[in-house]
Amino acid sequence: MTQAHPRISKAVIPAAGLGTRFLPATKATPKEMLPVVDKPAIQYVVEEAAAAGLSDVLMVTGRNKRPLEDHFDRNYELESALTKKGDAGRLAKVQESSDLATMHYVRQGDPKGLGHAVLCAAPHVGEEPFAVLLGDDLIDPRDPLLSRMVEIQEQHGGSVIALMEVDPEHIQMYGCAAAEPTADGDVVKVTGLVEKPSPAEAPSNLAIIGRYVLDPAVFGILRETEPGRGGEIQLTDALQKLAADEKVGGPVHGVVFKGRRYDTGDRGDYLRAIVRLACEREDLGPDFKTWLRSYVHEEM
Ligand code: G1P
Repeated sequence: MTQAHPRISKAVIPAAGLGTRFLPATKATPKEMLPVVDKPAIQYVVEEAAAAGLSDVLMVTGRNKRPLEDHFDRNYELESALTKKGDAGRLAKVQESSDLATMHYVRQGDPKGLGHAVLCAAPHVGEEPFAVLLGDDLIDPRDPLLSRMVEIQEQHGGSVIALMEVDPEHIQMYGCAAAEPTADGDVVKVTGLVEKPSPAEAPSNLAIIGRYVLDPAVFGILRETEPGRGGEIQLTDALQKLAADEKVGGPVHGVVFKGRRYDTGDRGDYLRAIVRLACEREDLGPDFKTWLRSYVHEEM
């Protein structure tokens, strides 16, 4: 393995969405702050970046996203109240989120799509490869995905996207990849990409899940990418251009993820994610599962 490529240290987290699927909860609270068990969804994502060695996190935010900045900052008032009470356990919980990474923020201004949000990161990222993590996808920390993607990017250069096999009828909710096998069982070479195709048009059942390690050449392409599906500048369209011409920004590979992923982007999946994660928690799980069993038994 060569070390010709710079070590990836920056993560970009788009967080400017309006969260309309969760209204009225998201009228005055960013959707990223909705709790998954007892932590805001966005904290899992920043923890994942930090666990993969990405200590510089840029959030692309918008209006009404101030609580995100506060959550990842110190809260001296709360800390001193908990210190006075001698509540070390809760104090550690308060401090956890501000100790994770060096946080930066940029505003997207016009909500012109995921590709546009990523483009807002260009001045901060510069000429290095970088990661993008979408907040609606939670990856179980026991099934590391991002560190494997960083490893593959260091091996091959270019860009690496996370893929997951889905039921063919669900492919229309995702970006979809045409791909060829490589010598590594969990890695494919991406030959084409299409955003949210109908099952009939889909080149495969490999869906893009929200993790990307990108060559900075993507910025130049995004600047020239016309609005696509839904009238938005699509990251998938820019990646399709990278995949079609390796000379621009190197190859595009995919890591096919087989681990646990929770979708918190829609209400049903969000509830399922909370129940699954609560069941697996050492502190809450045993009691919660006992209750859940009797609830299911009585109600269903
Ligand atoms: C975005 C991407 C899509 C990807 C998905 C993963 O779509 O555009 O390619 O498959 O995230 O969650 P969104 O869910 O934001 O509409």
